Amino acid sequence: MFITFEGVEGSGKTTQIARLAARLRAEGRQDVLTTREPGDGPLGQELRRLVLDPPMGVDVDPLAELLILLADRAQHVARTIRPHLDGNGSVLCDRYADSSLAYQGYGRGLDLAEIERLNAYATRGLTPDLTVLLDLDPAVGLARQRARTRMEKEALAFHQRVRDGFLDIAARAPSRFLILDAAQSADAVADALWPRVSFVLGAP
Ligand code: TYD
Repeated sequence: MFITFEGVEGSGKTTQIARLAARLRAEGRQDVLTTREPGDGPLGQELRRLVLDPPMGVDVDPLAELLILLADRAQHVARTIRPHLDGNGSVLCDRYADSSLAYQGYGRGLDLAEIERLNAYATRGLTPDLTVLLDLDPAVGLARQRARTRMEKEALAFHQRVRDGFLDIAARAPSRFLILDAAQSADAVADALWPRVSFVLGAP
């Protein structure tokens, strides 16, 4: 089972992933791997730093940014996610291909069809069984945390395009997505999430 979590900054993905992993383990699934993009493993950490905290004074080109994120994704799928799934494990991933569509496509204005094509290539066609979109007004999300990275320092209008982008992507693939209102308490989000996860687990 491969579940991805998406949403704007401060939408609570990290909290929900930790809670879901704990619940799955409590139910006897010891094979749960939690991971994230960008930044898994030593190569991922280097690539993450290049995108989110580039050398001082460097104006990163949007296409270069996308390709670095895709390099991270290709390595992540090939060396971490795929092997774990092949061993019958479950993977919970904080951001995945939809983040590139939302941030580099809707946010930065790169061509959506090109990003979809490149995502398919970088992931070797690996699509999540379920994608949880924690939907939140980015003004609320950004207020929840202090801006640390290049992306978090982007204007509110950028984050609004990203939020609308995620909703658009979800509307185009309704069977893969579960959209939850991330303005609710963490308990309420976790309770709303569990029935759908149980369903995916039970599916053949
Ligand atoms: P992170 O600090 O992990 O943020 P969050 O906790 O919100 O996930 O940083 C990940 C950042 O990278 C986030 O700002 C979104 C951005 N990103 C993209 O722009 N495109 C992508 O394809 C991915 C995976 C992440």
